[in-house]
Amino acid sequence: MVLAPLHHPDPRLREKAKPVAKITPEIKALAQDMLHSMYHYKGIGLAATQLGIPHRVVVMDLDVTQDMKPVSPKVYINPEIVSASIETSKMEEGCLSVASCKDSFKYITGIVTRPLHIRMRYLDLDGNVQEEEDRDMLARCMQHEIDHLDGILFIDRLEPEDRKRLIAELGFDTV
Ligand code: NI
Repeated sequence: MVLAPLHHPDPRLREKAKPVAKITPEIKALAQDMLHSMYHYKGIGLAATQLGIPHRVVVMDLDVTQDMKPVSPKVYINPEIVSASIETSKMEEGCLSVASCKDSFKYITGIVTRPLHIRMRYLDLDGNVQEEEDRDMLARCMQHEIDHLDGILFIDRLEPEDRKRLIAELGFDTV
């Protein structure tokens, strides 16, 4: 099932998602719906919060083809950052939940500074604890998605000047 991502300033995007206590068939079905929705809306990552579902579940596929054919779909249950590098990077980010309110197909982008690498822990769909080192693009996307689970959007992390410009572009002043 394909579900449409909520758009800022929907208050559900600001909710803190609850940890998944048990990997049930419902959670597995949710992960599949999230993957379908992510490919359908041409994203490379999606958090359950973006669909109005307050569970700590993230899906991602950084290798997706240009015409959105799945290559390496990944599901992260209860992802958490264990440690982060002191070294940071600046990169342009966008989000399926942050579009201009004048034109919902025009996604807003902005430069965000984040740790370059992270070590993170999560549960896989079999309920096993996994730990991995995420570098560069994967580290960036993971931090963006975990932010969603905590009710944080990339526009909260912009430099003040970018923020002003984006508020003007977004057409409302709720950032
Ligand atoms: Ni996003």
